[in-house]
Amino acid sequence: MHLRRLRTVQLRNLIDVDLELSPKCNLICGQNGSGKSSLLEAIYLLARAKSFRTNKLSRLAHFSENAFAISGEIEHDQGVNKLHARYEQRALKLMNGDQIIKRSSDLSTLLPLTLVSTDSHKLFTDGPKQRRRFMDWGVFHVKQPFLDMWRGYCRALGQRNALLRHGSDGSTLESWNHELERMAVEIDAWRSDYITSLRIHFLPMLAALIDLPELSIEYQRGWPLDISLTQHLLNKQERDLGLGYTRDGPHTADLVIKVAGVPTQECASRGQQKLIISALHLAQAVLFSEQLDKSSIVLVDDLPAELDAERRIRLLQLLNSLQAQVFITAIDERDIDMRVFDHSKVFHVKQGVFSRGDNH
Ligand SMILES: Nc1ncnc2c1ncn2[C@@H]1O[C@H](COP(=O)(O)OP(=O)(O)O)[C@@H](O)[C@H]1O
Ligand SMILES: [Mg+2]
Repeated sequence: MHLRRLRTVQLRNLIDVDLELSPKCNLICGQNGSGKSSLLEAIYLLARAKSFRTNKLSRLAHFSENAFAISGEIEHDQGVNKLHARYEQRALKLMNGDQIIKRSSDLSTLLPLTLVSTDSHKLFTDGPKQRRRFMDWGVFHVKQPFLDMWRGYCRALGQRNALLRHGSDGSTLESWNHELERMAVEIDAWRSDYITSLRIHFLPMLAALIDLPELSIEYQRGWPLDISLTQHLLNKQERDLGLGYTRDGPHTADLVIKVAGVPTQECASRGQQKLIISALHLAQAVLFSEQLDKSSIVLVDDLPAELDAERRIRLLQLLNSLQAQVFITAIDERDIDMRVFDHSKVFHVKQGVFSRGDNH
């Protein structure tokens, strides 16, 4: 599966983009503000029905316009899918051929995509919420019932928190404890299984990029290991009543990555963090690809940033080894050795206008 053609109309600063793409690797080069990330944003929107830079899709329309469109042709074994996304009158409409796409999860299976962006280090710096989101995106895409279960858990948690705020008695709280535990056990098992599978791909990928022998990746379920959630909530009832909310449970789960026993964000360099995050995302991409039994798309925005020449090459080699179509952006073409890839195309972008570079 790969995106063989991409077109954008009135998207950000891009002017009439119409690109025939390489099935293996596409490099987009250009100066700051030329439109590189905007092109990745177009591909991301086709796959996820949203942007990775803003919640307001209206921002993606060119300054002088209030509508934009993106279309892509996906080639796979069974034929070609034509995807079309159009934003107008404050609504995004997505079509697969002549069929309307109603759920964005249908899109993500049609065009499985992984992004390593310049903001990806937030996985470490922005606290556990980002890491849960990363983990749960992966869990949901291999275990579809996860989402309903998670929503059910959050509803029950909301009920218990309301009771805590109103200083409710123990017996009413207890029935909610059981309800929470029933769902927490499933959520915990799915997350734990997912991280076990992720680790199997993540560790060798990271080893291919950098030598960090004392690295550990640990899933924390959100309440102590040696006790059931019901019992734990009971033990901590007075504390929770004082707080007015349920402090522990799967809603506080975390994915803790440490180097020599110290959390990554406190000891690893930005370059090391970038490599760890790249390996995490690529491991997630491989798991999702395996689940769907199709190749995926990987976007790496500003690949050379923070990385030395050796790490860049290693990351490129890792990308080439995946069953994936890769899109890389870089300011300077010379920072990316495209000979690493079996097949590739280079594009230059200047003030929103694309032109073809050398073939490989
Ligand atoms: N809605 C918009 N309409 C027109 N130009 C925009 C819009 N949004 C952003 N831009 C401009 O588009 C340019 C390209 O941005 P971007 O794709 O992030 O550049 P790059 O990744 O190449 O550094 C920037 O100069 C930015 O100011
Ligand atoms: Mg950019």
